[in-house]
Amino acid sequence: MQNPQKSEVSPGDTDDGNISEGSNDITRREFLITSSAAVVLTVLPPVAPAQTPVAVESRAQQALTTKVSFKVNGKVHELEVDTRTTLLDALREHLQLTGTKKGCDQGQCGACTVIAGGRRINSCLTLAVMHEGDNITTIEGLGTPDKLHPMQAAFVKCDGYQCGYCTSGQICSAVAMLGEIKAGIPSHATADLNARPRLTPEELRERMSGNICRCGAYSNIAEAITEVAGRNA
Ligand code: FES
Ligand code: FES
Repeated sequence: MQNPQKSEVSPGDTDDGNISEGSNDITRREFLITSSAAVVLTVLPPVAPAQTPVAVESRAQQALTTKVSFKVNGKVHELEVDTRTTLLDALREHLQLTGTKKGCDQGQCGACTVIAGGRRINSCLTLAVMHEGDNITTIEGLGTPDKLHPMQAAFVKCDGYQCGYCTSGQICSAVAMLGEIKAGIPSHATADLNARPRLTPEELRERMSGNICRCGAYSNIAEAITEVAGRNA
């Protein structure tokens, strides 16, 4: 028999867990959910309207591109490039100067060598935007098929290539390297730092060691460079 004094229903509750609201009864759970939602809506800051993916992409694109201007083979070029574009890609993809080759794309082979401000550089290791106002010479700017640069002519004469993939880098490197010797810049192989460097076979090998020839045309390359150096001496 049930004891009427020990009822588990609190005042105001119905015995099925409902809060009595006259004819509009709601459960305790519904009441708690409704009041929690109201608190959250009051406390949270207003949410900014969602941006469309196109707007986000266009803002990102603007942040990533920039203008750069430099002279290549005597002609001024103004480019709008992705800030991450290497000088090599700017030359090949934007200016269609494909004489400069991409070998390793990480500074190991020298196929991408160009001359910037008189210095030979690996164009795969430098960003185009770092060359604002620079004067850049590629293999296309050294000579023409009708009027070859002396180094180009010597490579042809001495058979300084086989497949030719490394050749534009070798020639640009060799031209700038002779300029370094002329300017008295020592190398790791220079024995006497107080004397003017000369193009000995050791100097040549050391100074051209950044230009790899997978075909192994090294002896003919060295012959071509030595011939031009002798002529200039
Ligand atoms: S492509 Fe630049 S060093 Fe190989
Ligand atoms: S000629 Fe082929 S890699 Fe040098």
